[in-house]
Amino acid sequence: MCGIVGYTGKRQAASILLEGLEKLEYRGYDSVGIAVLNDSDMRILKDVGRIKDLRKSSNNAKGVEGTIGIGHSRWATHGAPTVANAHPHYSASGKFSIVHNGIIENYAVLKERLISEGVEFRSETDTEVVAQLLEKCYDGDFKSAVQRTADMLEGSYALGIICTDFPGVLFAVRRSSPLLIGVGQDENFIASDVTALISSTRNVIYLEDGEFARLTPDSLTVFAENGDEIEKEIAYIDWDIAAAEKGGYDHFMLKEIMEQPAALEKTIEPRIKNGKIVLDDFKMSAADLRSINRIIITACGSASYAGQLGRIVLEKLTRIPVEVDLASELRYRDPIIDEHTLLIVISQSGETADTIAAMKEAKLRGARVLSIVNVVGSTIAKLSDDVLFTWAGPEIAVATTKGYTTQAAVLYLFAVWAAHKMGKIADTEYARYIEEIKALPEATKKAIEINNNLEEIANKYKDNGNIFFIGRNVDYAVCMEGSLKLKEISYIHSEAYAAGELKHGTISLIDEGTPVIALCCHEALFDKMLSNIKEVKARGAKVLCVCLEGADMSSCEADDIIFVPKTDPLFNGSAEVVPLQILSYYIAKAKGCDIDKPRNLAKSVTVE
Ligand code: F6R
Repeated sequence: MCGIVGYTGKRQAASILLEGLEKLEYRGYDSVGIAVLNDSDMRILKDVGRIKDLRKSSNNAKGVEGTIGIGHSRWATHGAPTVANAHPHYSASGKFSIVHNGIIENYAVLKERLISEGVEFRSETDTEVVAQLLEKCYDGDFKSAVQRTADMLEGSYALGIICTDFPGVLFAVRRSSPLLIGVGQDENFIASDVTALISSTRNVIYLEDGEFARLTPDSLTVFAENGDEIEKEIAYIDWDIAAAEKGGYDHFMLKEIMEQPAALEKTIEPRIKNGKIVLDDFKMSAADLRSINRIIITACGSASYAGQLGRIVLEKLTRIPVEVDLASELRYRDPIIDEHTLLIVISQSGETADTIAAMKEAKLRGARVLSIVNVVGSTIAKLSDDVLFTWAGPEIAVATTKGYTTQAAVLYLFAVWAAHKMGKIADTEYARYIEEIKALPEATKKAIEINNNLEEIANKYKDNGNIFFIGRNVDYAVCMEGSLKLKEISYIHSEAYAAGELKHGTISLIDEGTPVIALCCHEALFDKMLSNIKEVKARGAKVLCVCLEGADMSSCEADDIIFVPKTDPLFNGSAEVVPLQILSYYIAKAKGCDIDKPRNLAKSVTVE
């Protein structure tokens, strides 16, 4: 996720900015840059890669004089990670330099207008539009240019802005993207995250949506959206630095679980415009879709389990046969793939070696490749015919959480879009499915809120050596992910079974006290699941049941029950998986495991 730092004071800005950006490294990024102002001389340094690369290419910013500046680490969204797309961006004459987090949703319209007025753009970013607009709105009054520009922007943004006419003055603007001010002695700071400030000051002001601020070394004024000055409270941060990086959570995994409602919002919201699903710069046409007679989803681990959720929705809505094939197996099986096959490749990192190899194999056989990837500029994204980014932000914990839920959400969007394009669902169904997908961020939020007793439940299950997950349909797909989450971070052996398969062998493993986690959220199969619960209870199992809020559990013999909010049954996996992630987290925590870095595992598996 992008990071912002800004400084105005008496010290040299370049080293403060670079140090601040280093504190934000944990968030992940692919390019970096700073702008420093010395009287009216603006120096901009940028590089692709890590901050140490920028330090090296700029000889540690040696000779970059100036006591005011802004810095940015970029996680690419609009345009590849290149020097041209890296921040800071600057206006036509170089008067304004800016850094930006968020997405300017109306940037295309604004850009077209600026181009028609003769402005030449240097990057593919939405951010450059803001720099160019500032100059257009400027008549000698910095504050008014900032305010008039912000009025034209739609979407989410946190901005840091400097101007060559005002050495010493730094403007900060916030709407739907975090930004805070660090209050110092003869110096003031801005940052998107408290981590970047904590070594210089612990006194901060949190900007609210619509607010903006003017900072100089010895003054600080905050304005409401209408430009009126407002009083703000100074808060004191007493976190230690490690806790600050984790936003106050004990582990990145928990932080990322909690980020899921916001991550889903970022995945879904920009793709629904005027009641329609709009899939980025998607090249696949209705005719292309109609020529497809088979879909293969390929991926590894959790990404393949997201694929299992996608398979159910895609088959149901498009009526095209869908298989989910593990990437590590697909290429060794002489698979039946031709130019009528759509290969959907799913990968958080975009760098998984097995997945890349499977993709190359399928391409050789003529498949069209659509990838669902989180990391912009990754190998898989580059090799694909079409890409849908999950926009989940960087995932630090090895065990994926928001990566998985956002992959599923993209698959839902694609399935509904494709089915409608192919004429397989009516306009009314299309509209209803869109509303259901839009409700998913809220459903995951509720799934977190209503399950506040999971730590307690985790303590009851933590000492078992084997835990079984059972479910049917979407629930079975979620069982696979729930089981993987549990075993990878808590080291408890666990298996996921289709509940109907129990009596074909697995039930022999169930005896006194064996924990069984039964997912009963698929209403049409609820009674069958109650029967499966009875079967395992009769053999002594301890049952934890996951079911929908409002379900009649009077005849359920479960020992513990977790409720999740109801969504359309096709999409219910999104909310259902959340308590399973949290449960695994607390079981692993109770066992004292290294949750963010489980033994033997790597975040990105770049070898076969
Ligand atoms: C499990 C997990 C892994 C990944 C798998 C694929 O929590 O994170 O199973 O899902 O290694 O990784 P990506 O999605 O980067 O291709």
